[in-house]
Amino acid sequence: MGELKTDQPDYGNWVSVRILYALGALAILLLGFSFVFPLVIVGAIASLVAFGYFMYARYRFSPRGGDLQAKIRELVLHRIEWDGEGYALDIGCGNAALTICVAKRFPTARVTGIDYWGGKWEYSRAVCERNATIEGVADRVNFQKASASALPFEAGSFDAAVSNLVFHEVSDTKEKRDLIEEALRVVRKGGAFAFQDLFLVNRLYGDVEDLLEVIRGWGIESVEFLDTAHSGSVPKALRLPFMLGAIGILYGVK
Ligand SMILES: C[S@@+](CC[C@H](N)C(=O)[O-])C[C@H]1O[C@@H](n2cnc3c(N)ncnc32)[C@H](O)[C@@H]1O
Repeated sequence: MGELKTDQPDYGNWVSVRILYALGALAILLLGFSFVFPLVIVGAIASLVAFGYFMYARYRFSPRGGDLQAKIRELVLHRIEWDGEGYALDIGCGNAALTICVAKRFPTARVTGIDYWGGKWEYSRAVCERNATIEGVADRVNFQKASASALPFEAGSFDAAVSNLVFHEVSDTKEKRDLIEEALRVVRKGGAFAFQDLFLVNRLYGDVEDLLEVIRGWGIESVEFLDTAHSGSVPKALRLPFMLGAIGILYGVK
């Protein structure tokens, strides 16, 4: 975690510097080997291209590059069919960007952010709390360390739940659909939900229409799917499936 020097919130970046270091180091290593084994140059070039691509994505995600991360989160915010009365949960809150957006959009709501805060990411609970203070919502938000696979809350505890680009990252559950069911468990009957993830990756969630049918079968009042990958917010260059090319939002009322 870098030293925090300014009074600006730090919402981190979905492309961590570790990915860039790893790809850069791999490219240099393969380039060295290619002097002995010339064919290895192909791997070196591929690593360099990947390095450039992830650099570009990191730039576009950052405030300097247009703050695409904020725009993608806004898509979730606008799908919550909620009057803002009561309690909301942000599952996998990272550095609390969406948690704080929810608190600001609904000025009397109390919002909880949970995250596993594993070493892979540039996120932490301390930064969440600092961001909430800077943004003036610290009195209405709180943060807990927990896994999306086993939320430490009674069924029906929240009036609304959101999540952004988290479920595909959760490694302690094999079946991704279980994470949706767990998220919905903690929402009260009639409460609102909006979850964005790589729902168009068949390997993770199966067919979307089938997924919707399964969710309806859990007794959910209404659930819809919005393909956000192709909604105009995501630049074409970032529509590769492992980047933002397979994202969508499941939203509705429990
Ligand atoms: C792409 S980041 C998204 C963060 C945040 N939602 C945002 O919009 O900036 C993925 C997040 O998932 C979190 N995560 C990974 N596995 C998790 C788990 N088992 N439970 C809760 N959060 C998890 C990571 O710590 C990270 O904060």
